[in-house]
Amino acid sequence: MRLPGLFAACPYRRVNSSDGVPHSDLRESLLICGAASDGLNLLPDRSIRTVVTSPPYWSLRDYEMKDQIGRDDALGDYIKSVVVTFDKLLRVLCDDGTVWLNVGDSYTSGNRRYRAPDRKNRARAMSVRPATPEGLKPKDLIGVPWRLAFALQDAGWWVRSEVIWYKPNAHPESVRDRPTKAHETVFLLSKSENYYYDTDAVRGPNGRRLRTVWDVNTEPRRRSDSGVDDHPAVMPMTLANQCVSITSEPGDVVLDPYAGSGTTLLAARHLDRRWVGIELNPSFVDLIEHRLAL
Ligand SMILES: C[S@@+](CC[C@H](N)C(=O)[O-])C[C@H]1O[C@@H](n2cnc3c(N)ncnc32)[C@H](O)[C@@H]1O
Repeated sequence: MRLPGLFAACPYRRVNSSDGVPHSDLRESLLICGAASDGLNLLPDRSIRTVVTSPPYWSLRDYEMKDQIGRDDALGDYIKSVVVTFDKLLRVLCDDGTVWLNVGDSYTSGNRRYRAPDRKNRARAMSVRPATPEGLKPKDLIGVPWRLAFALQDAGWWVRSEVIWYKPNAHPESVRDRPTKAHETVFLLSKSENYYYDTDAVRGPNGRRLRTVWDVNTEPRRRSDSGVDDHPAVMPMTLANQCVSITSEPGDVVLDPYAGSGTTLLAARHLDRRWVGIELNPSFVDLIEHRLAL
């Protein structure tokens, strides 16, 4: 998969998934506006070396877009929609390709029907909160990441690692009957039993091989000074850089099918990879273009 490098300065093309024009090669990077499941149809077979992505979490945010995922009333529907999209990923991923999947957990709503707007983050408001999934009780931690991982395993993916992204600067919580949550899960999934993984690309403290707990501070919410929308759920650049470095080589194509503000794409460009980003919300696609131009 090693191709001549120096893609950092390469141009990219912005297209709409509804144009339906397949791209037979990915000589230039691609920014696709549309739903992930449609955008993936435009990509060639086995063209992507690694994926670094964070789909919307179940029932945590309303991105106010038709076709958004995460707003599903039933947890099973959310899991199904991610698995269906990941089935499409199998086609476009190289046989030795991988996915870094960051998913957040949540608690049952206790049958409260809405979440009040968060003073710090308006997108955390939900006009409707899903009913407590069958078998769970009010206040139960749902275990969304592992439920999704088991479904992906059943669909043929190898679940190779569960990385705990520990956030040393996590926000305090007002709860008094459990510890304050300060981590999220990042799974490493592979398409095959053997896959590309460079142990030396990133080292832990004292030069030791990376452990499964990564300390990475969250970054402040991205606010745009240019009139384009800001984004409520930005992945720290350190995290994206680390993932891209470990499972791809310069010249490879890196994909984020839920690109948000484009952190994975910027990391890929910085590390001399080409990239493909798919994002449903056109104003976030504008934000990605704004960040790429900086
Ligand atoms: C958690 S955010 C990703 C943030 C990103 N990692 C970053 O650093 O900015 C998830 C994104 O998925 C987008 N999204 C929601 N449903 C989608 C779909 N069906 N296809 C593509 N993108 C979708 C949302 O608009 C949101 O920007």
